[in-house]
Amino acid sequence: MTQDELKTLVGQAAVKYVVKGEIVGVGTGSTVNKFIDALAAIKSEIKGAVSSSVASTERLKALGIKVFDANEVIELSVYIDGADEIDHSGYMVKGGGAALTREKIVASLSKKFVCIADESKLVKTMGAFPLPVEVIPMAAQRISALFAAKGGSAQLRMKDSAPLVTDNGQHILDVTGLQIADPLAFESEVNQWPGVVTVGVFAHQKAQVCLLGTSTGVKTLEF
Ligand code: 5RP
Repeated sequence: MTQDELKTLVGQAAVKYVVKGEIVGVGTGSTVNKFIDALAAIKSEIKGAVSSSVASTERLKALGIKVFDANEVIELSVYIDGADEIDHSGYMVKGGGAALTREKIVASLSKKFVCIADESKLVKTMGAFPLPVEVIPMAAQRISALFAAKGGSAQLRMKDSAPLVTDNGQHILDVTGLQIADPLAFESEVNQWPGVVTVGVFAHQKAQVCLLGTSTGVKTLEF
């Protein structure tokens, strides 16, 4: 099976975690796009969605799914999102699609995080995928220096020859060379650095379930 077929498989499998009659949290990315497409088939059975990005909002609306503002909900039963890396405890690196801040907000509103990913995303220790960090632009150099002191190398993410601007009007640093052995401590520490909006380690907002697309079908991991 191709990676795209594995994404379709887990996107469709995630629909069974959606609670009928409720609002579902929706992440961002190519795997989530498959989930959104599958969600459209049961749109009359749900109230709608809270979205984690402009891109997902547009896709949801185009398919006739109502999108609520995060401030309109107190709690969500479930949040469905992809990951760039996930380990065997359900800790993740996210933000490859630059939506990490809103993703973390919607995840924090949700009782259960269901991660959908193909098997290439499952790792023993996170750090191979460049770690995305959303930053206030004036702090980028100082934050890069702090990562350098940890052995990391930060690169400003570019788009069309200019720094990429997130949905929140900020920039993204992609940090290579890190081994994230203690994700909870790492996330807590980087969160304290002035100018960090969101670090792409999702340890405090970890997954409880991962639907992993493998060559033999969807494997369900529970953490
Ligand atoms: C976006 C994300 C995505 O969930 C992550 O990058 C995985 O994306 P894809 O499903 O396209 O591989 O965190 O900010």
